[in-house]
Amino acid sequence: MVRTIDDLGELRGKRVLVRSDLNVPLDDENNITDDGRIRASLPTIQRLAQAGARVLVVAHLGRPEGEPNPAYSLAPVAGRLSELLGSDVTFATDTVGEDAQGVANRLQDGEVALLENVRFNPGETSKDDAIRKAFAEQLANLADVFVSDGFGVVHRKQASVYDIATLLPSATGGLVQAEVEVLERLTESPERPYVVVLGGSKVSDKLGVIDNLIDKADALLIGGGMVFTFLAAQGHNVGTSLLEADQIDVAKRYIDEAAAKGVELVLPTDIVVAPEFSADAPATVVAADAMPDGQMGLDIGPESGKAFAEYVRTAKTVFWNGPMGVFEFAAFAAGTKAVAEALTEVDGLSVVGGGDSAAAVRALGFKDAQFGHISTGGGASLEYLEGKSLPGLEILS
Ligand code: 3PG
Repeated sequence: MVRTIDDLGELRGKRVLVRSDLNVPLDDENNITDDGRIRASLPTIQRLAQAGARVLVVAHLGRPEGEPNPAYSLAPVAGRLSELLGSDVTFATDTVGEDAQGVANRLQDGEVALLENVRFNPGETSKDDAIRKAFAEQLANLADVFVSDGFGVVHRKQASVYDIATLLPSATGGLVQAEVEVLERLTESPERPYVVVLGGSKVSDKLGVIDNLIDKADALLIGGGMVFTFLAAQGHNVGTSLLEADQIDVAKRYIDEAAAKGVELVLPTDIVVAPEFSADAPATVVAADAMPDGQMGLDIGPESGKAFAEYVRTAKTVFWNGPMGVFEFAAFAAGTKAVAEALTEVDGLSVVGGGDSAAAVRALGFKDAQFGHISTGGGASLEYLEGKSLPGLEILS
């Protein structure tokens, strides 16, 4: 049994350290381009504040490698968090230093503060258990209880995710619970047909998921850059497309395994190609088994988009991770759009997995409410679906 906020007892006047995943994309001027993770973190923060707790949010942004770096400051996130909460959020300019301690001490019942990027401290991500624990102790000194609500980081054995839970009375927040509930439905009792759509650039990133879901799904649809390794495995020319030559044998094995298990492994039949990777490169549609030399595949073609959409639309359970093409360029966004559109029409459970996939559907104009569930965790949801044990969940169970 995982402990929940209800198990923490009376919270009024208590300092609650909440680990959230506020790792949002920023543009060159540090403007937040997708605030989905901040929005997803609100309900737990609000619930704690309404219960009269003194809420200290701890989070990371990017991978600053243990050193303060203004490019990775959470200051813009504090501003957005405050706007969304409709109340002031005090921002501490360090994580466990003088400013953080002062902020923690001055915080009143029902108030919220955000600590500066936890990854500015080398102890957060250290592989040395003792160093990590020493840093977790500094964090623990700021609070009375700990709530783990950063689903996107529960696969990381890091001080603010893992070690801290050994030092303070701890519980999972509502976001982590909701995410785990959906992932359980995907792995334990999916309603059928169950369709898994995988995209993104590399086969090597998805090996564990394919290995685990090939036994569970009825159909596995492959798009994105990883398609070309599969097409090469079938002996087709892929021009100058992304190719992981060292994964061709693995792709062959998946094709054979799927056939042996009666799982449909569906590859695109047409591809949108261009001579170069750029937004205004001239796009042409070619057959997937006749890609010309000197051209690179940048999206699945319209026929494939239609076919993929049909699989998705008629499924009862769908998990999707990874774009079908270079959706950031309008000329190569149609495949991703077709799959996203079909997901909104599923009469059953539709799950968009991962920070990047979530950002993709929002960038294409879809609303969160059109999908059954948009996971805030890319790596975390994939590792869960791979069947791995996630340290941030383990320590709380
Ligand atoms: C994510 O973006 O998936 C999470 O915030 C985790 O970030 P990380 O991969 O840098 O640990």
